[in-house]
Amino acid sequence: MLKFSLLFSVLALCKSTKSTEEDVNYEEDTPVEEDDEDQGEDDNNDTAEPQILSQGQSIRVQAGSTVILPCQMIHIENYAFTWSKDDKILYFETLSHIKESNRIVLLPNNSLAIYNATVSDSSDDYKCNILRQPESIHLTHRLRVDPERTHQQSATSPPPQHSHKGIIRVIPPSRLINAKQGDTIQFGCETDTQPPLEIKWFFMSKKVNGDDPNVILKDNYITIKKVNSSHSALFQCLAEDGSKTPAMEAINVIVQYIPEIEVKKNKVHTGESIESEMQCIVSAYPEAIIKWYKDGKEITHKKGSVVMHHSTTKGNKTRHILKILHTSKKDFGEYKCRAQNLIGEDTKSIVLTGVPSQAKVVSAEVLDDNNAIILKWHLESYSPIKEYKLQYRRNGEETWNFVEPEVKEGNGNQFIVEHPIKDLQPGSYEAILMARNVFGWSMPSEPHSFTGDYPSEMAQKGNLLQPKQTPADAMVDLLA
Ligand SMILES: *[C@@H]1O[C@H](CO)[C@@H](O)[C@H](O)[C@H]1NC(C)=O
Ligand SMILES: *[C@@H]1O[C@H](CO)[C@@H](O)[C@H](O)[C@H]1NC(C)=O
Ligand SMILES: *[C@@H]1O[C@H](CO)[C@@H](O)[C@H](O)[C@H]1NC(C)=O
Ligand SMILES: *[C@@H]1O[C@H](CO)[C@@H](O)[C@H](O)[C@H]1NC(C)=O
Ligand SMILES: *[C@@H]1O[C@H](CO)[C@@H](O)[C@H](O)[C@H]1NC(C)=O
Repeated sequence: MLKFSLLFSVLALCKSTKSTEEDVNYEEDTPVEEDDEDQGEDDNNDTAEPQILSQGQSIRVQAGSTVILPCQMIHIENYAFTWSKDDKILYFETLSHIKESNRIVLLPNNSLAIYNATVSDSSDDYKCNILRQPESIHLTHRLRVDPERTHQQSATSPPPQHSHKGIIRVIPPSRLINAKQGDTIQFGCETDTQPPLEIKWFFMSKKVNGDDPNVILKDNYITIKKVNSSHSALFQCLAEDGSKTPAMEAINVIVQYIPEIEVKKNKVHTGESIESEMQCIVSAYPEAIIKWYKDGKEITHKKGSVVMHHSTTKGNKTRHILKILHTSKKDFGEYKCRAQNLIGEDTKSIVLTGVPSQAKVVSAEVLDDNNAIILKWHLESYSPIKEYKLQYRRNGEETWNFVEPEVKEGNGNQFIVEHPIKDLQPGSYEAILMARNVFGWSMPSEPHSFTGDYPSEMAQKGNLLQPKQTPADAMVDLLA
């Protein structure tokens, strides 16, 4: 029974339902100097740094016992915390990420209670974690659960591992591989049984089958060349003995990888005295420190003007947001987010601009009485549009025709531009639109192509949508 499947889907749910967001202030790391009290610097709670008061414990119990792993924390009002086991999240705040949330329970005092402990609850890595930037604060407990001595088989039988203890020998015995992106790693499972049992390998609950050319299986050993984040997971080996509960072992591969930044919008259109928001999504392990730069200078936290915060999304991804509360002209320019962890860094840039967004064609409607087409674009501008410029030409012609479509009132920051092009000749055309507001011209739209040869009898029959007769772009609806 392979039961490691659902973590990833469940993690998707954790996306900042609780307030995991916090204002980050990188410049106030040092305590405030002007405190008059000489003594008790550590007790000074002006800065209210979060803290874990409990001590790490090594606990050893018999299967079936109840275990309480303490985690007493203070000043965590603005921070999210997690309980994890071997880097798998058990609780994100009070939200359970496990099936067995009746057996493994988060207590009101944030201790983790494990009832009816089983051997598979054993781990050297139970972590209670305060998600603070740039470094999280954590406490680690070790738990070892020994199998029950009684010979009596209980009805709710323990996981298969028990009964087969010792059949599989894991290399390395620690069952843990720590690697850095690009390393070559090797691990294996061996058995001494006669005749030898066949070992089968699974990776993320799927059989290792040679799909990934860098994962090589040979003689019960797995070699991974150039490991990357996608190999970070549990590899399981199973000794096929024909039974329903074959012996099984697992090796946890943890790959530290260079941060990767993803930017959904690399150009953010905004306007004066409104709020502007830029986002970088960072994937990294170990966690990366993020810094924002404007025109090469690091952005620090100026009261009331800039807000930086972040929230954890699924996996090792964090969404970092930079908000400019009252945007002014001097805020326009190029911003960079830089993510750095122990093994590398990545940087992406985002341009904040006041000009209108690039226009996109939303529809092209053929008029049935003459050879004409009405093109419609959509764009955004946070300042009033001053003018449009439309240029179009028939393919093969050198010169463009220029027209100025009428500027109509927008709906908030949303603008629709509509313009008929008449007297089309047979052949294909292309059209480009630009818009200007007080801050300047937008980028030209992607050239939109359409054709002029609509036989008039077809148009009258209203048959324009038949793809055989009409090019698909005679009637485009990009909004659909
Ligand atoms: C420390 O924090 C507690 C509660 O968080 C508060 O009642 C107390 O006044 C604070 N002490 C100082 C010196 O700020
Ligand atoms: C613990 O095991 C006992 C006996 O198998 C069962 O009755 C009880 O419901 C279990 N408790 C939990 C919290 O799973
Ligand atoms: C938390 O609560 C549990 C159950 O009430 C108790 O056994 C445990 O001692 C408490 N832990 C701390 C650190 O207060
Ligand atoms: C990791 O490497 C595999 C090949 O071994 C490749 O298919 C995959 O795209 C890589 N993934 C990432 C996130 O780099
Ligand atoms: C984060 O990355 C590490 C190492 O690459 C991996 O072991 C761990 O499972 C990842 N965590 C999540 C929640 O995906």
